[in-house]
Amino acid sequence: MAPLVGLHAHGGRLVVHDHPVLHHKLAVLRDPDTRPRDFRARLSEIAALMTYTATRHLPVEEVELLTPLERTRGRVLAAPVTVVPILRAGLAMADGVLMVFPEARVGHLGLARDERSLQPRAYLDRLPADVGAGPVLLVDPMLATGGSAVAALHTLRAAGARDVLLLCLVAAPEGVDRVLEADLDVSIHCAALDRQLDPRGYILPGLGDAGDRAFGTT
Ligand code: PRP
Ligand code: URA
Repeated sequence: MAPLVGLHAHGGRLVVHDHPVLHHKLAVLRDPDTRPRDFRARLSEIAALMTYTATRHLPVEEVELLTPLERTRGRVLAAPVTVVPILRAGLAMADGVLMVFPEARVGHLGLARDERSLQPRAYLDRLPADVGAGPVLLVDPMLATGGSAVAALHTLRAAGARDVLLLCLVAAPEGVDRVLEADLDVSIHCAALDRQLDPRGYILPGLGDAGDRAFGTT
């Protein structure tokens, strides 16, 4: 059964997480007066909360355990988890994912969107060699045109990743459609599905440039 976390659309491939705590933290992020330190902190907290719910389906395996008192059985994650932030803005979300999966490997994909063409330019690709050995959480707060997410998904698929979940904060309908058309296996989790893109490719109402706001480069 799919986890009851909010709106499920596109046959369950889009999940919009719905929780008072997420709404509250997202309102802080939308506020232009929120400073970079608080922006990163709230973004990381949201990522941790969403990760916990979005990964309910992960397979576990039974193992034998020895407590200080006796033998028993327990369950552990069956495969190594990899978190892949899309730089830069994904970095703050990766911190939150690592709170939930402290043993996860971290792969980095550097993508910068050209302000005029809105096309992503790749500048870094560092993934674990066996990224396909387990689930991958691709994280980026903003899903706007979807160009960056689709480029990242192509890179992950080419590297052998199979079980990929895209975790974002705010998604635009245009970006959701583009990702789901490009990759039939990915599922998208977001905290808000916003209205539309503006002519410069910014999400409305959105929260502005997430990377600049997270790292104080506005
Ligand atoms: C932002 C954002 C996404 C991308 C979304 O990054 O973090 O990666 O834009 O836009 P798209 O869906 O239209 O591709 P940006 O390229 O501004 O880089 P930054 O994180 O370094 O600021
Ligand atoms: N990238 C951002 O950081 N914000 C947007 O609204 C769109 C793309």
